[in-house]
Amino acid sequence: MLRKEQNDYLTQTGPGTPMGNMFRAYWMPALLAKELPENECPPVRVKILSERLLAFRDTDGRYGLIDEFCAHRGVSLWFGRNEHSGLRCPYHGWKYDVTGQCIDVPSEPAESGFCNKVKLKSYPLIEKGGVLWTYMGPADKQPPEPEWEFASVPADQTYTSKRWQESNWLQAMEGGIDSSHVSFLHSGALESDPLFKGAKGNEYNLNDLKPHFEVVENDGGLLIGARRNAEDGKYYWRITQWVMPAFTMIPPRGDHPVHGHFWVPIDDENCWAWSFDYKPNRKLSTTERAALERGEGIHSPVDENFYPVSNKGNDYLMDRGAQKRGETYSGVHGFAAQDYSLQESMGPIVDRTKENLVSTDNGVIMARHRLMRSCKAFNDKGTLPPGVDPEHQKVRSASVVLPPDQMFKEAAKDALKTKPGVAHASV
Ligand code: FES
Ligand SMILES: [Fe+2]
Repeated sequence: MLRKEQNDYLTQTGPGTPMGNMFRAYWMPALLAKELPENECPPVRVKILSERLLAFRDTDGRYGLIDEFCAHRGVSLWFGRNEHSGLRCPYHGWKYDVTGQCIDVPSEPAESGFCNKVKLKSYPLIEKGGVLWTYMGPADKQPPEPEWEFASVPADQTYTSKRWQESNWLQAMEGGIDSSHVSFLHSGALESDPLFKGAKGNEYNLNDLKPHFEVVENDGGLLIGARRNAEDGKYYWRITQWVMPAFTMIPPRGDHPVHGHFWVPIDDENCWAWSFDYKPNRKLSTTERAALERGEGIHSPVDENFYPVSNKGNDYLMDRGAQKRGETYSGVHGFAAQDYSLQESMGPIVDRTKENLVSTDNGVIMARHRLMRSCKAFNDKGTLPPGVDPEHQKVRSASVVLPPDQMFKEAAKDALKTKPGVAHASV
């Protein structure tokens, strides 16, 4: 349970809010690179952390993320003409480059230098792993480029999608570290989804519905360990990674690609659920890629605006028959829709003053405390928050069988770090 002030503190990320300031210390996914497929292609509206921005790719292939609105009289530059190394407002022809600098005001004499004095707000936009990343904090504090493994492996080994979620970022992220719901909500899909089925670990999952959870701090965030009984008195551990503020990585199953999320606030009542799948040691097979593109696993079928096909407006295509027959636990089909349907049902910003938390919510509780602590230290003293340092990003989830007397953090230490070209530790 949180007090109202704490809930507001964690969920508000607009300009000038403490959590908003902290989010602006990180590189965040802003668009899929395929949204700006070629030079001079149409610009794309982007809203992140409650700021309305416009992304474009100019004549020379440079990416820009600038204020959506023209400095002259506020027209949306989404209507702009992307030509000759800049974006020209269609109203009176003012033109901007990728840094937001105004480079032409046709009505004014060029010698007056008037346009030099006009500059729109802008943020860097870089391509890495098929994703365009932005950093929205002060220029002198820009951290080194992100080094997440899913965005560092060759393109044929990784797949990333995004979808609109109608809820605050925090309740979406909390679903990513709440391992205890998997035995219930997703129980029907473990043995049917092509990106989950057939793993040995699934048996342990389905045979032991009362996992024991241990949560420990890691440099960048938390490790959430879920322990289930395996053979001969040994334990099957599933270890989830959370790296501050909004990265989660699900433990692998068998040889399936490994998946995870980034939860990026659009505004306080909506977020982007970024979802990735990758293999560090091999290409994704044609079958795997086709399944990912169809929206299976943790991905979802979406429309051209990345809005999910099963959504609030159609009751997430609820199938009471499938629920009754036990094919799905909640009646909603697909891992992602099972999660977002319930998270959206809590309301856009869940009222955490009314919760009744239990021991299996430990990961959620510790993540909130770490967020509040780091946010306070960042805002009061400028302390760099966990997860900004690329070393904190070189982590992996793991699923392992360990002897009963071993601490998972120590015993699985190597498995929890990235190793180029080497597969995840997975059961
Ligand atoms: S409003 Fe953009 S040029 Fe006038
Ligand atoms: Fe889930």
